Amino acid sequence: MHPVGHAQFLERPQDAQITRETHYLRVDAAKAVEREHSSIVALNRGHAPGASVKVSWRCRGGVKHLVQPGRRSRRRRSRRESGTHRAPLVGVGHRTGARSHGNRSQEDGGMKIGIIGAGMIGGTLARRWTRLGHEVFIANSRGPETLGELAAETGAKAVTRAEAARAGEVVVLTIPQKAVLDLPRDLFANVPKDVVVIDTGNYYPIRDGQLAELDGGMVESEWVASRIGRPVVKAFNNIYFKSLLEKGTAKGTPGRIALPVAGDPPEARAKVLRLVDELGFEPVDAGSLSDSWRQQPGTPAYTQDLDEARLKQALAQAERHRIPEYRNAANDSLKKYLAT
Ligand SMILES: NC(=O)c1ccc[n+]([C@@H]2O[C@H](COP(=O)([O-])OP(=O)(O)OC[C@H]3O[C@@H](n4cnc5c(N)ncnc54)[C@H](OP(=O)(O)O)[C@@H]3O)[C@@H](O)[C@H]2O)c1
Repeated sequence: MHPVGHAQFLERPQDAQITRETHYLRVDAAKAVEREHSSIVALNRGHAPGASVKVSWRCRGGVKHLVQPGRRSRRRRSRRESGTHRAPLVGVGHRTGARSHGNRSQEDGGMKIGIIGAGMIGGTLARRWTRLGHEVFIANSRGPETLGELAAETGAKAVTRAEAARAGEVVVLTIPQKAVLDLPRDLFANVPKDVVVIDTGNYYPIRDGQLAELDGGMVESEWVASRIGRPVVKAFNNIYFKSLLEKGTAKGTPGRIALPVAGDPPEARAKVLRLVDELGFEPVDAGSLSDSWRQQPGTPAYTQDLDEARLKQALAQAERHRIPEYRNAANDSLKKYLAT
């Protein structure tokens, strides 16, 4: 995806070689695009003026076709459901507002994503990703029958933890740090090696109790990786869930909030960087998992909603010997918050 202005979008040559491109446009720009193409229907339901929408288009035979989900004809919908539909020429995925009207095909960048943990972060990612057309499988500790409301709201499928772990090409582990100790040791045993596991976790002793290895200086996500027996990529741990829900913006927006992604191998990190960008945040490559202490609780980069330049500066400023100090500061503020 590239920064793109409305003018660029419209001036793009109608080149039969282009198969598909996707950009984030502000609603007013997207509406202007609509006006240029009589086939487009209104974008005005559920979009705040400052919100962004994802706009994809295809060029075939020199003709652009633009279609908005939710306004598909019954015939087209039934063809898609029966598997005979060849992916819409253009999809406009809502970045905020009502739930998605259907999953993107794999060809269109749609993914199957498992989420273990259905709280503030897990629920937020389920809301955001289903709206973007991904197929989400979500689990908690109490079982799928307790997730009916979230499933009905988002279209995510409520499943068991084992099913979420095996759901797709990305699995997010988003549970309190201490709960990692309760996960079955074989949870990921049969999950293919190329499945990327994202860890959003943070260690707060006031919530998690004292965890000796972490108190001894082990990097939090390295501890998680050692517990679950496979590599993880640390992401989404240093943004407040409400910011994750509401503050994504189009690429190129001044001050776009940046999020660090740390983990190995680089291909796994690259996949998560793309997901961050798609959610409306500037992806920042924060290196290997061993570097991920730079985004742990209380560090200069933690939950500050920084833009790219300031986030990189904050990551660089963190000092490893100060981890206990950072942790204590974060823990104290959670303590104060819980006391209010
Ligand atoms: N809240 C934020 O803004 C935020 C931001 C960034 C990172 N984080 C971090 O992300 C992690 C999740 O935070 P959260 O705020 O989303 O937590 P939360 O709202 O307390 O939700 C925790 C979720 O984890 C599930 N869970 C607990 N133990 C489990 C287990 N053994 N197996 C499967 N699921 C289990 C819970 O399910 P049950 O209800 O069924 O037990 C619940 O759905 C934490 O480490 C947190 O520090 C939070």
